[in-house]
Amino acid sequence: MATAGKLLCLDDYEAQARELLPLRAWVLISAGADDEVTVNENRRAFQRYWLKPRVLRDVSVRDMSTTVLGEKIDAPICLSPSILHGTAHPDGEIATCKAAAQMSTAMIMSAFSSKSLEEIAAVRPKSIKWQNVYTWRDREVTKDMIARAERAGFKAIVISVDVPVLGMKRRPTKLGGQAMMRTLQKFGNLDKYIGKDLGIGEDVPPELATPCLTSTWKDIAWVKTVTRLPVILKGIMTVEDALLAAEHKVQGIVVSNHGGRQLDGVPASIDVLSDIVDAVGDKLEVYVDSGVRTGTDVLKALALGARAVFIGRPVLYGLACNGKEGVKAVLQILRDELSRAMALTGCSRISDISRDFLSKRDRWSKL
Ligand SMILES: Cc1cc2nc3c(=O)[nH]c(=O)nc-3n(C[C@H](O)[C@H](O)[C@H](O)COP(=O)(O)O)c2cc1C
Repeated sequence: MATAGKLLCLDDYEAQARELLPLRAWVLISAGADDEVTVNENRRAFQRYWLKPRVLRDVSVRDMSTTVLGEKIDAPICLSPSILHGTAHPDGEIATCKAAAQMSTAMIMSAFSSKSLEEIAAVRPKSIKWQNVYTWRDREVTKDMIARAERAGFKAIVISVDVPVLGMKRRPTKLGGQAMMRTLQKFGNLDKYIGKDLGIGEDVPPELATPCLTSTWKDIAWVKTVTRLPVILKGIMTVEDALLAAEHKVQGIVVSNHGGRQLDGVPASIDVLSDIVDAVGDKLEVYVDSGVRTGTDVLKALALGARAVFIGRPVLYGLACNGKEGVKAVLQILRDELSRAMALTGCSRISDISRDFLSKRDRWSKL
């Protein structure tokens, strides 16, 4: 696209997407819950960490590759699940998935995707694909979606555990909320379950909706009995729950406040990350999302112990600006920024990055 060269950072993509998207889609994507305190905090929190640059180290070659669940990715920057990629680009999740494949990274596909699992499988993208599921009230639906994901070559099941009810997003609600969702797109992955009791509330068509999910840790144990795939819990924000996740022998957690879209008034994910990493040790892999927008954010998250970061809204902004190429460009910008940040802090490999490179910008800081 003609403007592509002018888009130098993820904030440029956000501004461009805001111009290009219909108002309803923009509001749906950008909104946070309630007063949007947490959504704003997610960005600010990263800025409270300072980097400590080390010099005169050989950083002429930087290797950003790492692994997630044992699979190699070219950089520790992966894609969070978000509903209805078709609202941002007609190719929807097919474009996203191809972008992830071409950038050799991992993507979590939302349960509420525009395209179905089977449509994704049909284009055979080589990306590492994980499927987001909920423990819907009708557990047969969950079981069926897991089986479909296994057949379609997905490599892990990601359960969103932070949605017992939907957060109130006032801006989209003022524009029509549920009616808006219905008119925007169809949920390709859920079509076949119309008439079943999903129990998920406002953002789904009324024929699928009832007030809330009723999942507990017992359901996590149950999911583990119905799949041979690794299970990851997305939406863990406390040491207590991280330890319970480890007890339930899941393979990973995403430390996430859902991009500030669920409980307003929780801290930024980045601020709870290191305590969680320290508590669980190497019992499971710890990833983080919410507010990651720059390569230095990525470096800070890795320094605090994340194995990889995930990005949510920027994927939709990339899609809105230029489809698959837009998502690739967003990932490339973050990679270039991470590579530069590694060089400037004196790190040539991901394993070089540690807490030694950070200090907190507060009154106890030594800086
Ligand atoms: C429009 C939108 C839809 C989302 N849909 C889902 C979803 O279906 N499942 C889920 O677990 N998280 C969902 N999320 C949360 C993201 O996976 C992710 O946690 C969050 O966007 C990360 O924050 P960031 O947008 O600041 O990067 C959604 C986020 C957005 C913006």
